[in-house]
Amino acid sequence: MKYLFYFFFLSFVFSCGSTEKKERETTKQKKVYDIYEPSEMAILMNQMYKRNEEIKKEILAGKIPTEFPSDFLEIHTANLSDFKERNEKFEAFSNLFIEAEKEIFNTASAVPVENRFNNAINLCISCHQTECTGPIPRIKKLIIK
Ligand code: HEC
Repeated sequence: MKYLFYFFFLSFVFSCGSTEKKERETTKQKKVYDIYEPSEMAILMNQMYKRNEEIKKEILAGKIPTEFPSDFLEIHTANLSDFKERNEKFEAFSNLFIEAEKEIFNTASAVPVENRFNNAINLCISCHQTECTGPIPRIKKLIIK
């Protein structure tokens, strides 16, 4: 049941714009996606997704990732879509996420790298649960089982 719900969400809200607005626009005018310009933050998010997908592959192949992708720090400055505001909660989650992501590359850590990786991905999800639930099913695919 939960998954049906996610599927519904995923098919309508690929990014996490305002759900109502997008749905209304898609029914009125299909072209809306052609003129949609992603924000700096949306672009960064997609880069973070791809990079973490690569990191997951490296981990599964038995490699130890060693270099924190410093462009992730742009999460502190990238512009959000017009309808979103940077607030305290966003800042708090950004900091937690960056700390967790950095931990993946802490070769001195006693915690298994799979757990450190999943920790970071769970923080992606935690932040998304606060205001931007659309991409969550996609993000969940990054978790190492
Ligand atoms: C601090 C909160 C926060 C964290 C942490 C976070 N996100 Fe996001 N994410 C957002 C917000 C807000 C948006 C919407 C950005 C916008 O539209 O301007 C977004 C958008 C996205 C999108 C949709 C981009 C698009 O094309 O519109 C994806 C995919 C995504 N995030 C994946 C991730 C992944 C993967 C991680 C972890 C590696 C992550 N996010 C961590 C808040 C967060």
